[in-house]
Amino acid sequence: DSPFKLFSVSSHTLSNETIQLADIDWDNLGFGFCPTDYMYVMKCGRDGNFSKGELQRFGNIELSPSSGVLNYGQGLFEGLKAYRKQDGNILLFRPEENAMRMQVGAERMCMPSPSVEQFVEAVKATVLANKRWIPPSGKGSLYIRPLLMGSGAVLGLAPAPEYTFLIYVSPVGNYFKEGIAPINLVVEHELHRATPGGTGGVKTIGNYAAVLKAQSAAKAKGYSDVLYLDCVHKRYLEEVSSCNIFVVKGNVISTPVIKGTILPGITRKSIIDVAQSQGFQVEERLVTVEELLDADEVFCTGTAVVVSPVGSITYLGKRVSYGEGGFGAVSQQLYSVLTQLQMGLIADKMNWTLEL
Ligand code: COI
Repeated sequence: DSPFKLFSVSSHTLSNETIQLADIDWDNLGFGFCPTDYMYVMKCGRDGNFSKGELQRFGNIELSPSSGVLNYGQGLFEGLKAYRKQDGNILLFRPEENAMRMQVGAERMCMPSPSVEQFVEAVKATVLANKRWIPPSGKGSLYIRPLLMGSGAVLGLAPAPEYTFLIYVSPVGNYFKEGIAPINLVVEHELHRATPGGTGGVKTIGNYAAVLKAQSAAKAKGYSDVLYLDCVHKRYLEEVSSCNIFVVKGNVISTPVIKGTILPGITRKSIIDVAQSQGFQVEERLVTVEELLDADEVFCTGTAVVVSPVGSITYLGKRVSYGEGGFGAVSQQLYSVLTQLQMGLIADKMNWTLEL
């Protein structure tokens, strides 16, 4: 059952290597789950050490009904992407950042975590084993989803006695159904995503279940997604369900400061650096909901959403629009630099990409 036998069949020539691409519609990738060939599984027992990770055929996993993740939500996830370059080589974007973020989250959730090296090696192995699922250059990317979960059985509330680190992948295109067209957000003023001292700043699975109710209600009303406010003052912007937010006014780009209730996005961090390198002034600070009223542009960032322009935001029934139905100039510029870097189309002066 070697992963390599999949690559010995030849048909499409993708530059330096001949591989058989998976037979799917590469021109219409959205952000739906598509099962691929292999997943990576590594366990950690009571000694706290992860070892003997291996690639397995992708499929369902067995979990005790009493596992920590199913009963008490002891779980984290990560998200990163692999791109196929025009020369056929593969690029990962800042995988060690995801590894480090998983370590921080694991500490908060009382879980052991793989080392940065174990994480990055596991990502590489999973991507290479599923190479035929990486979209052709320019058609999308391979979304990589590492999970860390309390897989051991517990009944009383306590950290699980055993943990599983698992990585699966899926080819993806645009996250929002709008494609690259601007999204329409609604500000949520009753439900909150995170609280001070809570887990909003780490990528725990429960943070995402917590936004489903507001998100579903917003979608039912025709909005693309929800923008959350801080739960204390109900005045400062936090983030959108699955991404961070940026507000542009002239040459200044502001984004809510990371203070425990906001997920420290790797795309957020990268866009701050890209924007500064392009001559913008970037401010990480408290950003009020009123600032949305006279912003020139608003955009979201995330691994899944990349850089998504916001076309309108509705707050307490009042709608503010940005741009003229298209990508604002600043969002377009930042999107273009970031994605060209990620796809290996421009020199990677920041040393962010890892070529496989
Ligand atoms: C990502 O952008 O990778 C995320 O983890 C967000 C997720 C809700 C799709």
